Amino acid sequence: MQPPHLLFLFLPILLPGMWADPEEPQVIQYLLTGAFASISSAEVSCIVLLEDIPMLTLDPANWSIHFYWPWVSQVAAEGDGEKIMSQYKIALRNLIRFVHDTVQQTKQHYPLVVQIRLGCVAYPNMTSQGFLNVGWGGRDLVAFEIDKQCWEARQPSQVAELVSESLNRQKSVTVLLEYLLTIWVCQSNFQTVKTYGKEVLERQELPVATVFARTPSRDELLLVCHVTGFYPHPISVAWLRDGQEVPPGPALNTSTILPNADLTYQLRSVLAVAPRDGHSYVCRVRHRSLGTRSLLIPWENRSTAATISITIAVLLLVTTASAGGFWWWKHRKGNEATWETQDCII
Ligand SMILES: *[C@@H]1O[C@H](CO)[C@@H](O)[C@H](O)[C@H]1NC(C)=O
Ligand SMILES: *[C@@H]1O[C@H](CO)[C@@H](O)[C@H](O)[C@H]1NC(C)=O
Ligand SMILES: *[C@@H]1O[C@H](CO)[C@@H](O)[C@H](O)[C@H]1NC(C)=O
Repeated sequence: MQPPHLLFLFLPILLPGMWADPEEPQVIQYLLTGAFASISSAEVSCIVLLEDIPMLTLDPANWSIHFYWPWVSQVAAEGDGEKIMSQYKIALRNLIRFVHDTVQQTKQHYPLVVQIRLGCVAYPNMTSQGFLNVGWGGRDLVAFEIDKQCWEARQPSQVAELVSESLNRQKSVTVLLEYLLTIWVCQSNFQTVKTYGKEVLERQELPVATVFARTPSRDELLLVCHVTGFYPHPISVAWLRDGQEVPPGPALNTSTILPNADLTYQLRSVLAVAPRDGHSYVCRVRHRSLGTRSLLIPWENRSTAATISITIAVLLLVTTASAGGFWWWKHRKGNEATWETQDCII
């Protein structure tokens, strides 16, 4: 007594894969945006990110600092952090005055957006490189050359010349910046943050993958593999046709990786195929959280059902995989409505 629109739920099949975790550089960055609406107005916002993890933000209304994690306030209270915390409001006021003065001198116009990006990249070979860039109206303006202890223009304009010259005249500031970037941001601050934030940095969330089909026209079938809820960001999603990886080409369209609200990520990979072409299709996902295994989600080509959903409940899948099993569930009539609804939502 098989209903014609039988939908199948496959339990996860995790097979040994080759997901090698590439050692990637780590980045800490302080991002500051100043929105200058007029000579008498400036709104400053700031966020500090370790990789893609927010650590603290500045409230634009009262310049108070919001710490995302309890350990960040500990970091801020240590060593030079304490001194910097006691001085940042003065530095912001000086920055705002400097921007207004520059606008007057160069006869620029409001509204204007100034962006500052400061931080450090730590490479797997244990070297690190500080950086400090300033953008003006959406374009690179000047950058601080740490080795030379000086500011250099990043565009051939009067503003860039004036800003770099006037910043270079303040020798005590360039010496301080060199110290801040190489010793503080790249060494003590970065090390402390990595130590305190170890748990957050090493967080891993398993991908949840769904495979379904769309039929935009009679002779076209789009197989969609939607992968979500994973962390960290690097992932590999591929389609296998009869066990062979489908190479990049016009039939294959993989989206960029998009953020979810809970600091996980999602993406989808769409493969265009001919209906009833006789091939088997499997979506393969590799991710750090899966270790050396792959998540394989087959698409079941049933001519009776226009679209067939196969959803993997990852936790169940992992259990199954560790038992070394390959399972599948039949969904009875009562579940069909749910599955069809899900197809529309996805
Ligand atoms: C700053 O403003 C925010 C709301 O914008 C408020 O929640 C916070 O308590 C204020 N902090 C201080 C120190 O006044
Ligand atoms: C370390 O790696 C970075 C980035 O790959 C490279 O630019 C740098 O030259 C390397 N440094 C050393 C000492 O190998
Ligand atoms: C890939 O998908 C995007 C979004 O649906 C679409 O805009 C784009 O044209 C597609 N590219 C190809 C090569 O099909």
